[in-house]
Amino acid sequence: MLLTVLNKFQLRDKLLLPIVQGGMGVGVSAHRLAGSVAREGAMGTIASVDLRRHHPDLMERTGRSKDQGLIEAANLTALDREIGKARELAGGKGMIAVNVMRAVSQYADLIRQSCASGADALVVGAGLPLDLPELTSEHPNVALIPVLSDARGIALLIKKWMRRNRLPDAIVIENPRFAAGHLGAPSTEAVKDPRFGFATVLEGAHALLRELGLERERIPLIAAGGVHSHEQVKDLIGMGASAVQLGTPFAVSTEGDAHQTFKDVLLEAGEQDTVTFMSAAGLPARAVRTPWLMRYLDKETKLQSKARPKPCTVGIECLQQCGWRDGDARAGQFCIDTQLAFALEGDRKRGLFFRGSEALPFGAAMRPVRELIDYMLNGTQPPPLAA
Ligand SMILES: Cc1cc2nc3c(=O)[nH]c(=O)nc-3n(C[C@H](O)[C@H](O)[C@H](O)COP(=O)(O)O)c2cc1C
Ligand code: SF4
Repeated sequence: MLLTVLNKFQLRDKLLLPIVQGGMGVGVSAHRLAGSVAREGAMGTIASVDLRRHHPDLMERTGRSKDQGLIEAANLTALDREIGKARELAGGKGMIAVNVMRAVSQYADLIRQSCASGADALVVGAGLPLDLPELTSEHPNVALIPVLSDARGIALLIKKWMRRNRLPDAIVIENPRFAAGHLGAPSTEAVKDPRFGFATVLEGAHALLRELGLERERIPLIAAGGVHSHEQVKDLIGMGASAVQLGTPFAVSTEGDAHQTFKDVLLEAGEQDTVTFMSAAGLPARAVRTPWLMRYLDKETKLQSKARPKPCTVGIECLQQCGWRDGDARAGQFCIDTQLAFALEGDRKRGLFFRGSEALPFGAAMRPVRELIDYMLNGTQPPPLAA
């Protein structure tokens, strides 16, 4: 396991390295990435959304089907397999978490399956998971970790959970100004709001814990979004974060579960190459300006003016509220499941490639998880790549 000059943090009965790998769907963080991160003594996260896409036998049965029940069952089977394989790879080290988005229709089933299949923790974002304590009441040893972006959301969630005698085991504070994927802000313009700044949210969260008579260590705060250097990790820990979470840098690591072309698209993109737009889920999102996304954004206003309810494109009704299916002009007018699946397969032209706005720790080079964690923890520069 890796050593660190920084303090480890306590999550339930484990002492973990203060570098967390964020959940990345569809299929970008599956068993290989999450298990490899956990093996180093950190928390690795499997993204639960549409995992059947990593299993040829399940795709054979469901790839052309529009039977929602059949597809959902395949996704639960895939999740069970991925958790099992990740645990095997981790060999009892670190923690295996599962990320479930509150906005997906299969939310409750994915939560229950994760608990039944042996996940150590659940990380839930894209909506407020106020019902998570009830849903997991039969599995009190599974750590519960909401993803939030401002001090108001943190106060609301903690106070509601306290009424159910439960506290979050940690909180991921994701800054929408820098992070990849769906962003916890009301609009694309609002992502830069100063209320999302790390210093502001950490200070607000610590003031709240004091007010509630809780010790700081009781709820470790994990800062996420744009973290790409050892100096930033030290600064954030200096500000009172217990750990940092990284998404994009892990997506492009050697062990990342997506296609090589997916990694290349993220690695090749510079700071000017990402764009913030409204997703079909009704939240802002950040991704690489790829040919499909730019074509879509050119015709977004026209599509929004013609938004009407229509049948689900894939048949899985993946989102509780889908701008495309429901004809909601305020949300994105495309099927996000289809576009993310193209990206996972490495289709540069048609894929939607989520990426954070910041530079990557090793520039355009793909490096193993171990080197990434060692650099973030200790500032250790990896050896030069063989020519
Ligand atoms: C390709 C990709 C897919 C993502 N998918 C999800 C997801 O399914 N659920 C989620 O909560 N966060 C998702 N995220 C966000 C990450 O978990 C993480 O919090 C975020 O990327 C941190 O910002 P960074 O990419 O600048 O490090 C995704 C990020 C990336 C890069
Ligand atoms: S149309 Fe909407 S609900 Fe149906 S699969 Fe696509 S994104 Fe999901």
